[in-house]
Amino acid sequence: MDLFEHQAKELFAEYGVPVPTGKVANTPAEAKAIATELFAAGSKKVVIKAQVKTGGRGKAGGVKLADTPDEAEALATQILGMDIKGHTVHKVLVEEGSAIAQEFYFSFLLDRANRTYLSICTVEGGVEIEDVPHDKLALIAIDALEGVDAAKAREIAVAGRLPEVAVDGAADIIAKLWTVFTKEDATLVEVNPLILTADDQVRALDGKVSLDENASFRQPRQAELEDKAAADPLEAKAKEKDLNYVKLDGNVGIIGNGAGLVMSTLDVVAYAGEEFPGSPKPANFLDIGGGASAEVMAAGLEIILSDPSVKSIFVNVFGGITACDAVANGIVAAYELLGSRGETVDRPLVVRLDGNNAELGRQILNDAALAGVEQVETMDDAARRAAELAAVGA
Ligand SMILES: Nc1ncnc2c1ncn2[C@@H]1O[C@H](COP(=O)(O)OP(=O)(O)O)[C@@H](O)[C@H]1O
Ligand SMILES: [Mg+2]
Repeated sequence: MDLFEHQAKELFAEYGVPVPTGKVANTPAEAKAIATELFAAGSKKVVIKAQVKTGGRGKAGGVKLADTPDEAEALATQILGMDIKGHTVHKVLVEEGSAIAQEFYFSFLLDRANRTYLSICTVEGGVEIEDVPHDKLALIAIDALEGVDAAKAREIAVAGRLPEVAVDGAADIIAKLWTVFTKEDATLVEVNPLILTADDQVRALDGKVSLDENASFRQPRQAELEDKAAADPLEAKAKEKDLNYVKLDGNVGIIGNGAGLVMSTLDVVAYAGEEFPGSPKPANFLDIGGGASAEVMAAGLEIILSDPSVKSIFVNVFGGITACDAVANGIVAAYELLGSRGETVDRPLVVRLDGNNAELGRQILNDAALAGVEQVETMDDAARRAAELAAVGA
């Protein structure tokens, strides 16, 4: 999960990393009020910064300096609603302007290829790091167990060829950012630019933080940091029900057990769909995992049925520890559960059961004779039938 700049800076401030004073505004009037406070507190200039989860905001016109509260309001009017690389600006950060003497670059990240953590530091900051010549970058691996102490932080700043006057301040920030990185379970902490001010102070002027969602069980605050407005409404609903669901843009709903099987189901359906008018494609990824209880099956069907582009549904199950008869009972019970809530499954369902207790599972579904449910024996044939039904229903 990526954080907005203002969230990253709030996190930095908590760990003692110096950042400019500022607040978030949702409207031009709020921006003006914050700017008024900042000028009153002694700021010479204020900066209006688009809050979108993409870089290059400055270049796109999303970072502007104002000399008066009125100018701040006018700039906020201009920036709010702006589109930056496909991201609409819904809020701006209004912060004190810094007198910049020099801009540097610093980051901690996960180096997957080398199975370690990595720090990148360079005196050439403020530009996209990809554009900095490789020989200007100090890439220093961080041992996960040793971490970053004061000496290591200094080594990084010096290797990045930061000027002597900035080394102590930068090293102090680098050590604190390591604490942010580890304590918050981040996979990226980037500061670009890290600046030296005209009065020789070092501070973080921008912040990009990616948090590892696998750690959410021990990072309760991740839930608060999540950008609920940006999430797909179906994905948000699925998340509430603990379902592993990803919305796609086709019209064949997919339910399977096991991520690998669901991935290959997507491929098989997309391939089969090419035979039919309109080339039906998968509408989603949904892995109901090992335990296909009636509740999980009902929750999955409910999410898929609430997607109006879905014209048919393909349930593809390979019975393992959870046997096919349990899945079949889950489907029957899900129909009853949905029916009792006044929701009906109004689109055709193609079921393919294979593996552990497949015969028994098929028998259960045959006996239940649910309206709109068809069974097909192989995965390829079932995918073709589901695609065909989607083409007819479309
Ligand atoms: N508080 C600030 N005071 C003065 N200049 C700023 C301030 N914040 C940003 N800038 C300038 O704007 C540039 C771009 O801002 P930044 O936050 O890095 O956005 P992005 O990386 O998305 O372009 C910075 O490199 C810096 O020169
Ligand atoms: Mg930046």
